[in-house]
Amino acid sequence: MDRRTFLSWVGMGWIATSLPVALVACNSETPSASSSPANNSAAPRADGFVQVGTVAALETGAIVLEESSIGPVAVARNNGELVAVNPTCTHKGCTVAWQPSGEYVCPCHQAKFSPTGTVLGEGPSKVPLKVLEAKIEGDAVLVKASA
Ligand code: FES
Repeated sequence: MDRRTFLSWVGMGWIATSLPVALVACNSETPSASSSPANNSAAPRADGFVQVGTVAALETGAIVLEESSIGPVAVARNNGELVAVNPTCTHKGCTVAWQPSGEYVCPCHQAKFSPTGTVLGEGPSKVPLKVLEAKIEGDAVLVKASA
């Protein structure tokens, strides 16, 4: 086998193994509930609420949407109570990420916030995250844009 044929086979093998991963990564149907920010373009209902996820997804951590029809949204439980906040960091605007320890941490300068959005620790942010109205209907987690 000459060099050109070998490189051709290596290239084809790389494409064949990478294509499924690329297709999954580009699929908008990929589940959006996790600590990683995601997007949701569902339109708000007449009452202003929009579904941002499911109760089942919430049980695995927080639902963090970097974009939705009502803007950025994060939902978690705090002592069993449903709490929604705008996950845009009040320091310089990065999107905070949910941590398994039960707090939001900003990836830019490590500001920490409680599930209710209050500032924790020594991070650079001194302003809490904005709280949004949230509720559960059936299996749907709903959030309403603030007035
Ligand atoms: S932008 Fe979040 S801590 Fe700076």
